[in-house]
Amino acid sequence: MQKLAIQGGNRLNGEVRISGAKNAALPIMCAGLLTADELRLDNMPDLHDVATMRKLLEQMGVTAAVEPGAVTLCGAKVDKLEAPYEMVKTMRAAILVLGPLVARFGEARVSLPGGCAIGSRPVDLHIKGLQAMGAQIHIEHGYIHAQVPRGNGSSKGCGRLKGARIFFDLVSVTGTENLMMAAALADGVTVLENAAREPEVVDLAHCLIAMGAKIEGAGSDTISITGVEKLHGASHRIMPDRIESGTFLVAAAAAGGDITLIDARADILENVLEKLQEAGAAIHVAGSTINLKMNQRPKAVNVRTSPYPAFPTDMQAQFMAMNTIAEGSAIVIETIFENRFMHVQELRRLGAQIDVEGNAAVIKGCAQLEGATIMATDLRASACLVIAGLVAQGETIVDRIYHLDRGYEHIEAKLSALGAQIRRLK
Ligand code: UD1
Repeated sequence: MQKLAIQGGNRLNGEVRISGAKNAALPIMCAGLLTADELRLDNMPDLHDVATMRKLLEQMGVTAAVEPGAVTLCGAKVDKLEAPYEMVKTMRAAILVLGPLVARFGEARVSLPGGCAIGSRPVDLHIKGLQAMGAQIHIEHGYIHAQVPRGNGSSKGCGRLKGARIFFDLVSVTGTENLMMAAALADGVTVLENAAREPEVVDLAHCLIAMGAKIEGAGSDTISITGVEKLHGASHRIMPDRIESGTFLVAAAAAGGDITLIDARADILENVLEKLQEAGAAIHVAGSTINLKMNQRPKAVNVRTSPYPAFPTDMQAQFMAMNTIAEGSAIVIETIFENRFMHVQELRRLGAQIDVEGNAAVIKGCAQLEGATIMATDLRASACLVIAGLVAQGETIVDRIYHLDRGYEHIEAKLSALGAQIRRLK
């Protein structure tokens, strides 16, 4: 199993290019199932999850022509309407094939994702939404089997979903994305209420609109979709990764330094940038660059995760790492996932002082962490441990970094270019 060895103590200086967003690329790849034409995607990140999604789509009959930083998908010959357990268990975003398959073919068989390290993460809202649109859904042998009865206004020999008004009890990103894709080909108007406002939902909407979908309100909590009979090919550029952006900024705020993100977007990072300023960093935004300068020990900052535009759960662990060496104490409250403090035990191995009570963690900043061997448990927890390694005294070994490769493109190369001492042990 691959590991990272980090020698702590270096400041970070220089420029780093931000990759395309994983959480936009994965749903947008699934949009390729909605048309028989070609969908070209640029600014694609080179990530393990992206490769897994491509394999899954290929198993279904989609062709994928890969170039550096781009992929062209073609769904003309989709013949297997199934996402097997082996794939869904390694990448929960595979659930995003459900809406497109049911919408275009009137049928799908997708494995239930089950739990993961950060919580139970059900998909009941995806299922209820499709049922409201006329799909009949049975759970059999751990699989969601969805079928739209024939004669449901269909012109294709299989049933067609019907527009519906759908209210989300909880704000769900992939739930909103799945139903938005399904509604794009449904008969009539679908209104999604209490929808997720995440920028990745907006990016997906832009791609669908380029494919001929009629969508209004993406980015607000009410999205209205007027279904069309057919979608066509398009080309789309994946938005920059706001979580990768935030992760590099927090790393520099914790380690000290002067870094500039290239190809980033400050407008979708407002909450994170404010928190970094509160920690004492100087932030300067110019066009698509974000510069951060930090010349002091960070001040502890409280964080409470909530759906966008509030503070993202995917940045919680990284801020926790910064708080461990900050001046003062901070409270970090996680409201999205019930078990997203797996990194706390590992940070404690480096000497961090953290108490957890339910969904709140109290962190007492200490002057110095000490390097040790620690284990990554999930994607963002891994990023948190890398940041801790960058500030710890001596060597930190981060084990099980396959989590990191799922969501961060060439992270050790990018950090090395900024002056970090980090290498991969194979
Ligand atoms: C997405 C992101 C993930 C991020 C999360 C929260 C992708 C591929 N993943 O995950 O990185 O951490 O948003 O912003 O974009 N819930 C239900 N029933 C459902 C769906 C969700 O109860 O049917 C609950 C979940 O358990 C959780 C909350 O709603 O408590 C938010 O989950 P959701 O937004 O759906 O997370 P993901 O879309 O899986």
